[in-house]
Amino acid sequence: MRRPLVAGNWKMHGTRASVAELIEGVRRQVLPGDVDVAVFPACLHVAQVVEGLAGASVMVGGQDCAVEPLQGALTGEVAASQLQDAGCVMVLLGHSERRQVLAESDQVVARKFAAAQACGLVPVLCVGETLEQRQAGETLAVVGRQLAAVIDAHGVAAFSAAVVAYEPVWAIGSGLTASPEQAQEVHAAIRAQLAAADAELARGVRILYGGSVKAANAAELFGMPDIDGGLVGGASLNADEFGAICRAAGS
Ligand code: PGA
Repeated sequence: MRRPLVAGNWKMHGTRASVAELIEGVRRQVLPGDVDVAVFPACLHVAQVVEGLAGASVMVGGQDCAVEPLQGALTGEVAASQLQDAGCVMVLLGHSERRQVLAESDQVVARKFAAAQACGLVPVLCVGETLEQRQAGETLAVVGRQLAAVIDAHGVAAFSAAVVAYEPVWAIGSGLTASPEQAQEVHAAIRAQLAAADAELARGVRILYGGSVKAANAAELFGMPDIDGGLVGGASLNADEFGAICRAAGS
């Protein structure tokens, strides 16, 4: 059985003071013992969060990493090795905000995926279609291409130590959530694509849903057979709401 994972993506939010409050709020939550929980603060706050959540059974991850795994001359970037050194165990890659606003290509995302794994970080590979692509009936093709870029570059075995997050772009921060059935269809297709290369490995890969997940819709989404937890943006900035989402992923 796959162990659920609920991941809070704090995006470009927070000050030292508000992050300290959020840490306290997360520490107060009763978290289920059968769910992995992780938070992804802005890079600047990683050290504060690692220290603040010490002993709290909450993992910390970065929101991105450089294409080069090790520290070096690459102004403005953060190496996976530096994230690992700071206490991160995971890293989000290919979030749609980066693909869209910063024009990150599938190839760049694939390089970052390798960099993360080279440093022992678990990549959380984000994939998802835009509203136009969904309306044109291209959802499975788009998601399949984003996933294939990493499988082709690094082999399906790389997914034995990775997580996939399906995040329909039209559902992110919009209040619109994919219906459990819409999400399940894509999650099943992602698993089938992995299974075509390695069926046993595919059964073990966690596939998270992201896009306006909140306490009120989490249980229904997490109840679908191929949805193994959530990548939560806005709602993760409220510790009580985030705690409730984590509990919804428990048995
Ligand atoms: P949202 O963001 O929960 O605010 O829609 C999810 C994400 O972008 O990871």
